[in-house]
Amino acid sequence: MKNIKQWLIDRLTTHRQALPRPIAERVKLSQPFISLNDETFLTVKIAGEDHIDGLLSIERQCYNGHTPWNRTALLHEIRYNKNAFYMIVTDDQRPVAFLGSWFVAKEAHITNIATIPEYEGKGIATFLIEALKGIALDEKMQLISLEVRVSNKRAQGLYRKMQFTNGRVKKGYYANDHEDALEMAMLLAVTDR
Ligand SMILES: CC(C)(COP(=O)(O)OP(=O)(O)OC[C@H]1O[C@@H](n2cnc3c(N)ncnc32)[C@H](O)[C@@H]1OP(=O)(O)O)[C@@H](O)C(=O)NCCC(=O)NCCS
Repeated sequence: MKNIKQWLIDRLTTHRQALPRPIAERVKLSQPFISLNDETFLTVKIAGEDHIDGLLSIERQCYNGHTPWNRTALLHEIRYNKNAFYMIVTDDQRPVAFLGSWFVAKEAHITNIATIPEYEGKGIATFLIEALKGIALDEKMQLISLEVRVSNKRAQGLYRKMQFTNGRVKKGYYANDHEDALEMAMLLAVTDR
């Protein structure tokens, strides 16, 4: 009986060790700060549950008081989704930007990226996408993908600048107003590695 119990414990331990740890636990940011042109430094962190209020506050400022990803959704993402990876940028203690993503099947998919209006145009989103790209390469991903509203020319300009190319248009993709979404993707070349 003792032997069977020990065998079971060994099996379970081995199995647990074989499971990959959540992406947010196994990766490290190579540069945990952003240096702006005016010589201020912003802090970049992998977002945890403590940052959910900050993520919601950024969303409200970027989406006219709305939170497309609400508290329950963000909590689920950060607490339970092993493939979800969020970064948050703060100025002193003030949350100013974030990027959310999923790492699934060789694809890093950006689920949300936002910079509060006062901090737009300073290169923060560019930094976050570059940071994601570094992590995606380390994780052997082949693609970074996203969907963007067809009317969101500013975000599309940013993605195009970063070598994302257009994919197909998804008709009526957004649940609230049925606007079309444009798929965009950046191939991660072997030479990037
Ligand atoms: C899109 C968004 C994340 C960009 O954040 P940001 O920190 O200002 O981005 P950056 O400063 O790194 O890059 C700005 C780039 O956007 C592009 N851009 C800015 N204004 C633009 C415009 N009017 N038209 C086209 N492209 C524009 C440029 O490529 C610019 O790069 P440049 O300054 O080197 O020319 C931010 O505007 C935002 O949060 N918008 C609201 C939320 C949103 O739409 N998120 C995207 C969901 S898919």
